[in-house]
Amino acid sequence: MSRPILEVAHLNKSYRTKSNTDFAAVKDVSFSLMKGETLGIVGESGSGKTTVAKMIAGMIPVTSGDISLDGERLSGTRTRSKATKRNIQYIFQDPVSSLNPRLQIKDILAEPLKLYFSLTKQEINTRIDGLLNDVGLPNAYRERYPKELSGGQCQRVGIARALAAEPTIIVCDEPTSALDMTIQSQILELLKDLQQKWGISYLFIAHGLEVVYSISNRVMVMKQGEVVEFGATDEIFNRPEHAYTQSLINAIPQIQIPYFN
Ligand SMILES: Nc1ncnc2c1ncn2[C@@H]1O[C@H](COP(=O)(O)OP(=O)(O)O)[C@@H](O)[C@H]1O
Ligand SMILES: [Mg+2]
Repeated sequence: MSRPILEVAHLNKSYRTKSNTDFAAVKDVSFSLMKGETLGIVGESGSGKTTVAKMIAGMIPVTSGDISLDGERLSGTRTRSKATKRNIQYIFQDPVSSLNPRLQIKDILAEPLKLYFSLTKQEINTRIDGLLNDVGLPNAYRERYPKELSGGQCQRVGIARALAAEPTIIVCDEPTSALDMTIQSQILELLKDLQQKWGISYLFIAHGLEVVYSISNRVMVMKQGEVVEFGATDEIFNRPEHAYTQSLINAIPQIQIPYFN
């Protein structure tokens, strides 16, 4: 975790509203993400988390500000190089709708493999098996369609699709929000294992602090498009400076201890 892989400086995003005024969804956001680090981004719905994430992934244009990958300043969305696109992958909040319902799992995974690498059919097949194995899905799932899988299994496919590109960064945009608690922790464990194995850096977005606690090295708290607090995870939890961070900590559901008599 020695050097920054991603640097974001003074990032802004405005949307033109119907009344023809500008609404600032993201205001002057700056941070860096280290190699192999997980940076948690937390904030209530509408605080600008996805907007930051999509600008970094090149899915929407920035209004102003700079994004650098491995020391190289990135250009706008349409002119990004293939290598840059490959290096910044995205895992979506809704695992089912993020997969093309008309494609079998093997074809969903073949897409990034064909796009980014020149492989033979045989190599693609072997790679698909390897990816399914990496995310804990049986090979037999190759032939299945997304609707035949559970939400958690679809998210595993979403993770495999991101891994297929062999990225240096994965933006995880509330990847467990649509899943129930048990599945949530399984997905978090999987993401941690994959990070250990491949040294990938994560930007991990959640609206609750409890989700980022176990996975993040540092946490950035956003409110109404701005960064209100930023620090090491244990500092944020033990010594929150901003009242909003405190309110997020207070909102963490208390674990119910079973009572036996
Ligand atoms: N395409 C858009 N046009 C107009 N406003 C948008 C658009 N996308 C997002 N917004 C607004 O920007 C703000 C931040 O949204 P978003 O980044 O999705 O928040 P979060 O991911 O933290 O819930 C919200 O007020 C949202 O309504
Ligand atoms: Mg969002």
